Amino acid sequence: MSVPDNHFRRDVIRGLSARQKYLEPKYFYDATGDRLFQQIMESPEYYLTNAELEILQRQSNAILGSCLQYQRRFDIVELGAGDASKSLFLLEQALQRGISNHYYPIDISGNVIGQLEQNIPGKLPGLAVKGFTGEYFHMLDELARYSQGPKLVLFLGATIGNMQPEEALHFCRELHTYLNEGDLLLIGFDLKKDPSVILDAYNDAAGITREFNLNLLRRINRELEGNFDLEKFRHYPVYDPGTGACKSYLISTEAQKVTLCGDTEISFDKDEAIYMEVSQKYDMRQIEQMARKSGFAPVQHFYDREKRFVDTLWTVPSLKTVLGNH
Ligand code: AVJ
Repeated sequence: MSVPDNHFRRDVIRGLSARQKYLEPKYFYDATGDRLFQQIMESPEYYLTNAELEILQRQSNAILGSCLQYQRRFDIVELGAGDASKSLFLLEQALQRGISNHYYPIDISGNVIGQLEQNIPGKLPGLAVKGFTGEYFHMLDELARYSQGPKLVLFLGATIGNMQPEEALHFCRELHTYLNEGDLLLIGFDLKKDPSVILDAYNDAAGITREFNLNLLRRINRELEGNFDLEKFRHYPVYDPGTGACKSYLISTEAQKVTLCGDTEISFDKDEAIYMEVSQKYDMRQIEQMARKSGFAPVQHFYDREKRFVDTLWTVPSLKTVLGNH
């Protein structure tokens, strides 16, 4: 298992014992969760994946061109690589142009990393792939033993959306400490847009997102001896256009008690909510502010044609530049 059992157990009990019950989205991704997330990405309502795919299909060369202003060659590190279907376009161009021949995907799912190490060398011969399974910063510590030179870090798919803005800023600040002057970061943000388009993306008609959320209860049942009755929880997504937060909840349809780990009892009131995840939406002002506040300098923004999504390229500026900005 990718995440040590005791962490899963500790985090689930902590979350379900809180006043506002919550579960952590990183635990969605067991084998079934990986498969359901693939299906979400293929669902007609979930526009994010196609939007970002379009960016990488059409603009990988422009992105690399922009990177070349800062580094002639670099290793490519990817946080939350998933199936890497989008990054493959960039990797292919980078390899072809002799800009990079090292790819280090990092993911919480051991599944996913195993598949990448299996499949990419056949698709992109000449690209050295070494994957890391675990939490991002732990794995970046590990990575430092393999890659010391200039880096382009990819953090695609709006994975950063799983953090609230304050937490995302904190995350970028920490990521900054792993990088050197001239290193590059390409981050995908989902943009604020028609609220119903956003809500539909998390409430698909086929009910895959509902299954994706319920699957975490199923995982708790299996791995932590839980006895959640999945019939008694309802998927409830909400989008607040004021804050840009799209949040998913599971609502207990009746008063009930659930047992886990043999000895822990969790009581639910009727209509009590478990907060499952946030998928935060941004505007460009917030994104540029986050770059600066976390010590990066925005380089260029790459949008899909409908401007639903942005992959924004940041660099670690020289200290001189940072001071010059103040
Ligand atoms: C993987 C965090 C980007 O928030 O859009 C999709 C996860 N959850 N549908 C997102 C997700 C429900 C996804 N991220």
